Amino acid sequence: MEKEYDFTKPLEKLTEEEAAQEIEKLIDLINYHDWRYYVLSDPEIPDEVYDSLMRRLRALEERFPHLRKPYSPTQRLPNLISTEFPEVSHPTPLLSLDNAFSLEEVKAFLERVYKNLGTKEITFVLELKFDGVALSLLYENGVLIRGATRGNGFVGEDVTPNVKTIKTIPLKLRGNYPKRVHVKGEVLMFKEDFQRLNQERQRRGEPPFVNTRNAASGSLRQQDPRITAQRNLKFFAYDLDVLEGEEPKLHEEALELLREWGFIASPHWRKAQEMEEIEEYINYWTEKREELPFDADGIVIKVNERWAREKLGATARAPRWAIAYKFPSKKAVTRLLDVKFNVGRTGVITPVAQLEPVQLEGATIKSATLHNFEYIKKLDVRIGDVVIIQRAGKVIPEVIGVMKELRPPDAKEIKPPEKCPSCSSELVWDGVFLKCPNPRCPEKIKAKLKHYVSRNAMDIEVLGEKLIDKLVDLKLVKDIPDLYTLTVADLTSLERMGKKLASKIISQIEESRSRPLHRVIFALGIPRVGEQTAKALSERFSSLRELMNAKYEDLVAIKDIGPETAEEILKFFADEENRKLVEKLMSLGIGVSREGKKVKPSMGPLFRKRN
Ligand code: IVH
Repeated sequence: MEKEYDFTKPLEKLTEEEAAQEIEKLIDLINYHDWRYYVLSDPEIPDEVYDSLMRRLRALEERFPHLRKPYSPTQRLPNLISTEFPEVSHPTPLLSLDNAFSLEEVKAFLERVYKNLGTKEITFVLELKFDGVALSLLYENGVLIRGATRGNGFVGEDVTPNVKTIKTIPLKLRGNYPKRVHVKGEVLMFKEDFQRLNQERQRRGEPPFVNTRNAASGSLRQQDPRITAQRNLKFFAYDLDVLEGEEPKLHEEALELLREWGFIASPHWRKAQEMEEIEEYINYWTEKREELPFDADGIVIKVNERWAREKLGATARAPRWAIAYKFPSKKAVTRLLDVKFNVGRTGVITPVAQLEPVQLEGATIKSATLHNFEYIKKLDVRIGDVVIIQRAGKVIPEVIGVMKELRPPDAKEIKPPEKCPSCSSELVWDGVFLKCPNPRCPEKIKAKLKHYVSRNAMDIEVLGEKLIDKLVDLKLVKDIPDLYTLTVADLTSLERMGKKLASKIISQIEESRSRPLHRVIFALGIPRVGEQTAKALSERFSSLRELMNAKYEDLVAIKDIGPETAEEILKFFADEENRKLVEKLMSLGIGVSREGKKVKPSMGPLFRKRN
């Protein structure tokens, strides 16, 4: 039997035999994905994942140089040239950029530049790094003569007929222009157009594009320019080489000229003098990049002065006067070690992937959601698999893909549990959801309480998650209303809980009794009822009692409340347990009026007795 292939094993722990096996496997895998990407124009995996395979292969080959194979993809010159379009030599090369993955690396770049120039008397232009396809445009006497893809940087594909369909590319330059000029820039597809295109493709049963860059590249390299014309591609110009005529002395002047000639010149560019400003620009766009209508994958820092650029020169691959800072990746690859089952406040069981710890956006990720069992089936993910995880914004990470080629022979299927991991009740299916039906299930109660006390609900944040777990485990709290009969003495009986903190907790719980109705409604955790809906409900109904007795017609008459939400609300209040809970809350003065009732001092913490 094949030995287990461990993609995530640290290099130092690999035996030579294991390394040889892994190298062969990676070569096959990368060659396969190269073929999907370059030949079929239909990649299967995100670029970040491809890059991580390539990095791993490079690292292995560096550690075991004698295992480096002549047919390894690391031995290939960058960029395959497809034969579908005529080849053309670029008037000046389209170089690549060196990458920086941290601010330190950017700082080191500045130091290098200063040292090579022997002065700090220069400025920088900061630009977004547009995530599209590079394009070379040749203009003679102001007329567009040729458009070509980057290819290997020296020879590219002539795609002139397609380029002419792109409306942000002037066919004739405006104003004053040099006799011959080479304009460089990026062809992009905006996110909105990308989504529309993919929806259309899916409707027609065609495979969707994985990202805007592949969509832009695929659209630019169409045999039929009429298709390119429909794709609404955009062109951002970011550099020029004057071939005949006068060269601008500063890069900022070049950008200004490009704008005058009729291009969109590198949107959001900025001038900078020192590291601090560069850092600011990087931090700003790291935060804001999602809000851009197009994809940007980093920041390009360019020396502004032409004389300095010339002095610095270039390597065969990239100029020494520029560097690309890459935004941290939102995707990572790691191994699925196990699956745990979480019980939510409605009893829904969520499978949670337990992962080999991996770094993602500066945090160590050890778990990620697998959503539900349908999702697991669709992904066909198994324990032991190498998986792709993603974190978008601040949401919890999720497993989004599986590297099936790397599946170890002993990978284990993930089976839905039969019994609740918390209370051992027999689980039941509710559509695609597996649920624990037991209203006294401790995990369910904990989740319910955690939602109830959360900041946007009843805002009892001193009652942290660990404390809630403890209170439920010790059976001091069996449901929400029990919070209101807790005493300082109950709390101080817990380990590491002083009187001061205990009193603070009790008084925050007490205070929560006067929360306005919309918070109380949200805190109940009715499925589909978020903060917005809770607010809408509290405008129509003036107390929990009114809401509890609402009819279907009353509910759907409210703007923003659809039939599904109305059903969920009715279902919630039809449940005997929930009705009891609401009655108890109301008897505590909670949710009895819109604004929330002021707590009388006689009900304060010092007056409470356990009954
Ligand atoms: S300047 C000689 N500026 O990034 C330097 N490139 O990884 C020429 N890119 O091939 C590049 N946005 O396709 C420059 N504002 C920008 C860019 C940019 C995206 C692309 C370009 C290049 C690749 C290098």
